Amino acid sequence: MSRSAALLVLGLIAAASAAAARPAPAARAAEWTTPGALLAVLSTEPGPCLTVPADSRRARSIAIGAAAFRAPLLLGGQAARSGLSCNACHRGGRDNPAFSYPGLSGAPGTADVTASLFSSHRGDGLFNPRPIPNLSGDKHLLRIDQSGAPGALEPFILGLTTEEFDGPAPPAAVLTGLADYVRALSPGACTAPVAVDLAGALRHVGAALDNARMLASAGDAPAARLMISAARSELGLIDERYALHGLEGRAAPLRRAAAALGEIERRIIADPAGALTALDRWQHGAAVWQGPLRRAEARSLYNRAVLARTLAPGQ
Ligand code: HEC
Repeated sequence: MSRSAALLVLGLIAAASAAAARPAPAARAAEWTTPGALLAVLSTEPGPCLTVPADSRRARSIAIGAAAFRAPLLLGGQAARSGLSCNACHRGGRDNPAFSYPGLSGAPGTADVTASLFSSHRGDGLFNPRPIPNLSGDKHLLRIDQSGAPGALEPFILGLTTEEFDGPAPPAAVLTGLADYVRALSPGACTAPVAVDLAGALRHVGAALDNARMLASAGDAPAARLMISAARSELGLIDERYALHGLEGRAAPLRRAAAALGEIERRIIADPAGALTALDRWQHGAAVWQGPLRRAEARSLYNRAVLARTLAPGQ
């Protein structure tokens, strides 16, 4: 079977299993979470282990990396379509003991990042899943040297995105950002788990768009575009939480806002100045879509009790 035919079959299988899973929430994370762990994964997140330096350029680079880390579009093809990001495997910059993706994982918490499922370059024909390393653990336990900046991390992450996940090479500012983000993680800075809620999700949207604005103003439209796509993906995660009967009207303004942001994303390369103005307007109008979401949050899947009732048995 050709590669594109194989991907098509995979897509059909994914679509069929998503439909079969209704009326349980069509959470992206359901695709790669071990049975029984979805409630915990969707309601709490490990707290970050990030030290943000006083140097503002480095702090900005880390913020770009943190947003990119959560963006599926950084990875290519099949991984991006599944909604998989760095953060799916390295939750909150750590590991993910509940990660289990059919065809990619052995025991929970492992992944074969040389599996041909995601890669036309590195697929080695062998199934050899490895434990997902905790990127916020002791640096000396990690394989890739993190002492220099730039150092060994940049080529490693470039290889991950372009070869293991078949994605395009990330813009330089994004690659540097990812490496700076990983270097800024350390066990001494770890914070307590946080509840996943609308406010946190909106902060992720805002942070990605702040990065987009800075990058576009500095003339780096390709990196700005990736940040807008990261923000749109965060909007998609919010939308998942309102996929309940009775809440359709609450999510409608969000969907319109996401579509408008998609237009800005498409425009930014050809017309960065126009896109920046449109982005300003978009951010000023945020109350229109955020208000209805805030008022309905307690009835949405951000509420752990509502979420628990909605999950299918065994999820
Ligand atoms: C499908 C799960 C998965 C995804 C997605 C993923 N990783 Fe990993 N990552 C792993 C596994 C498994 C290893 C260990 C590989 C090995 O031991 O050969 C690893 C290793 C690493 C390492 C090296 C750790 C060390 O020992 O020094 C870094 C850094 C890293 N990943 C960063 C990232 C970044 C950045 C992204 C997103 C661009 C990403 N990972 C996406 C599973 C994943």
